[in-house]
Amino acid sequence: MREVKRFYLLLHPRPAYLIGSGRLGERANFMAASWVTPIAEEPPLVGVAIGADSYTRELIDAYGEFTINVLPMDKLDVIYYAGSRSGREEDKTAVIRARRGEAVQAPVAEDAIGVIECRVRTKVEAQDVVFYVGEVVAARAREDVFDERRGWASSKVDIPLHNWGRGFYGLGRLRLAKAAGGEE
Ligand SMILES: Cc1cc2nc3c(=O)[nH]c(=O)nc-3n(C[C@H](O)[C@H](O)[C@H](O)COP(=O)(O)O)c2cc1C
Repeated sequence: MREVKRFYLLLHPRPAYLIGSGRLGERANFMAASWVTPIAEEPPLVGVAIGADSYTRELIDAYGEFTINVLPMDKLDVIYYAGSRSGREEDKTAVIRARRGEAVQAPVAEDAIGVIECRVRTKVEAQDVVFYVGEVVAARAREDVFDERRGWASSKVDIPLHNWGRGFYGLGRLRLAKAAGGEE
């Protein structure tokens, strides 16, 4: 084995999501994020690592809420757009159709097939990044592509996995490597 400096590459590919922040009608924004993780089921907590210089960080600090939006592979261009421009320079909600969350006022992407709405419970400042621990106050998914027992129906929907220099994979490809016993 050789030494790895960019250790986080070892933890990719990871799904890429849209983080919604702010409040529609005031200041609202979406950014792409793949450093997103469940933390606990009870209480329901999720963590997101957000660049300290990002507009998203500013809005999460201002409003104390965010949403995690799962987009299908065919909306990869939206994820890429949200991840390559800053909301400080342009209003990304003018391009990415949005509505208000149900339990929070942060924006939710119309194209999302799954949404987790969060209120910030605590945060860890780590110089370049702020890691927000969010309490999940609502979560829902499109029922034609997700069910509570088996999760995403990978035969019907593909979720983008971000693999840095190698671009994105679709979750569907991983079906080839699915462990025996999986149902589909
Ligand atoms: C696929 C992908 C995943 C990303 N993951 C993260 C992430 O987990 N955390 C982060 O801070 N930035 C991440 N970024 C970069 C931000 O999306 C990017 O810096 C964005 O322009 C910030 O937007 P904002 O200033 O409007 O908040 C990612 C970008 C892409 C394309």
